[in-house]
Amino acid sequence: MRLVRLIYASRSVRMLPMGEMVSLLEQCRQKNQELDITGMLAFSRDGFLQVLEGGSENVNALYHRIAADPRHHQLALLGFGEVVEREFPDWSMAGLDVVGLEASRRAATLLRHGTSAVFNPFTMSASAALRLLVAWRSELMPCAGREPRIPEDALEEA
Ligand SMILES: Cc1cc2nc3c(=O)[nH]c(=O)nc-3n(C[C@H](O)[C@H](O)[C@H](O)COP(=O)(O)O)c2cc1C
Repeated sequence: MRLVRLIYASRSVRMLPMGEMVSLLEQCRQKNQELDITGMLAFSRDGFLQVLEGGSENVNALYHRIAADPRHHQLALLGFGEVVEREFPDWSMAGLDVVGLEASRRAATLLRHGTSAVFNPFTMSASAALRLLVAWRSELMPCAGREPRIPEDALEEA
């Protein structure tokens, strides 16, 4: 399997309470770890921006499962392609609450990577969206985003 990266944006069907987001992220981490998938999910009141990295078949299959999830719709595939390395090797799924970011820093980062200070990933190119997520990697949700991805065989060896 080739290493690929997939980035998409979607709109949430309803605003998910933080508790639901935390359990969604926990579920993602567990499943992604089994599949050696890594990535990041940024969410706001009305939408998601997610990057998935891993083997092409695993990423493809996961994207189809995610696309069928009734919690969101209007998925827009921003990018899919082979990569030589991962940007999120330490996160089976990092979670970032965009609304929780400090407003002026959020605006500055959004302006740097896009056409406005409003979080609207639908208007972004795949490379800009990726750079935005990389910039936000350091601001992960304290309760749910910092969990490093530990390969299972590393745990067995320990
Ligand atoms: C925005 C969003 C992102 C998701 N990301 C992942 C993910 O990275 N990994 C994952 O296993 N499930 C993810 N899910 C959950 C899947 O859509 C699905 O509920 C989960 O894979 C269980 O699928 P299953 O019931 O077919 O086993 C995500 C759901 C949403 C709404």
